[in-house]
Amino acid sequence: MTKAVRVHKHGGPEVLTYEDVEVGAPGAGEVRIRQTVVGLNFIDVYYRTGLYKPPALPFIAGNEAAGVVVAVGPDVTDFHPGDRVAYYANLGGYAEERIVPAAKLVKLPDHISDEQAAVLMLKGMTAFYLLRKTFKVEPGHRVLIHAAAGGVGLLACQWAKALGATVIGTVGSKAKAELALANGCDHVILYRDEDFVARVKQITDGALCDVVYDSVGKTTFPGSLKCLRRRGLFVSFGNASGPVPPFPLAELNAHGSLYATRPKLNDYVATREELLEAADALFSAVLSGKLKVQINHAYALKDVARAHTDLESRATTGAVILRP
Ligand SMILES: NC(=O)c1ccc[n+]([C@@H]2O[C@H](COP(=O)([O-])OP(=O)(O)OC[C@H]3O[C@@H](n4cnc5c(N)ncnc54)[C@H](OP(=O)(O)O)[C@@H]3O)[C@@H](O)[C@H]2O)c1
Repeated sequence: MTKAVRVHKHGGPEVLTYEDVEVGAPGAGEVRIRQTVVGLNFIDVYYRTGLYKPPALPFIAGNEAAGVVVAVGPDVTDFHPGDRVAYYANLGGYAEERIVPAAKLVKLPDHISDEQAAVLMLKGMTAFYLLRKTFKVEPGHRVLIHAAAGGVGLLACQWAKALGATVIGTVGSKAKAELALANGCDHVILYRDEDFVARVKQITDGALCDVVYDSVGKTTFPGSLKCLRRRGLFVSFGNASGPVPPFPLAELNAHGSLYATRPKLNDYVATREELLEAADALFSAVLSGKLKVQINHAYALKDVARAHTDLESRATTGAVILRP
């Protein structure tokens, strides 16, 4: 038996149930790991509330973690007991021990701590694909990143700045503004108090942005479209305030022949090669100092309901971890 956090019915943080579960031995292509650190993500909230559908109820929540291999399946040759590993995988993460497909695991270099790895696999890989694949940020680009002081936000802002972009971030408080400015933002907008579209126009002298990375959704739409230059790219990658409502394609025409995409990590890190490429890029960025992983909150796994409450009430900054 091991402890895990299961969701038996969708609802508020109170449906997160800390309980005993069976793990068993790893089968073909599988590895059993003892988890040391679990990363908390806003996507965990979507699965808990039912906005994103799990394959079945009950399910173990959680999508990224780091730990140590304790057993491997009969045909697994790349991993051995004692290896330090981390992964991104849909669900199953909130647990002391679990089984993971070997294909999802990456080995951790010595310079990467379990804490760093546990938040780089989902949040870091998201920042990577958004800035390097969805839109290739280059020197001179003007980039707007909403929720700039959040888990993905702080990583994305640092990386965009290192790539030579002018980075404009939106944040929900003055304390978050300071943090965003210290982590790659050239300009910060308090979007709960200020008209962020007007501020982007002012900051860019009317030139507007090449790309908008929008994980907030409902409350920043359609403002985000108005922040884009002709033929700019609207990247809608999250729903922290609720989903973007359906809109006519003609809106993209009206705002300057814009492009829009709604990407997800699974489609950018779908193969083993893509996983290793993203992990290598992240671990190298940490080693070179380009990326500083900010873990600003830690909770015991059994206190995960409190962690969800804090994340949803916008009380957290940077990455949040759970300790099994
Ligand atoms: N598509 C993908 O592949 C992918 C992968 C990973 C994450 N994501 C998305 O990226 C976003 C960030 O994820 P994260 O785990 O790093 O979370 P996070 O950014 O640490 O937390 C979400 C932030 O969103 C902002 N926010 C704005 N309106 C909000 C509202 N009504 N309720 C709650 N928060 C609100 C808050 O910052 P302020 O107070 O500064 O506004 C809050 O701190 C999420 O939307 C997530 O779904 C997408």
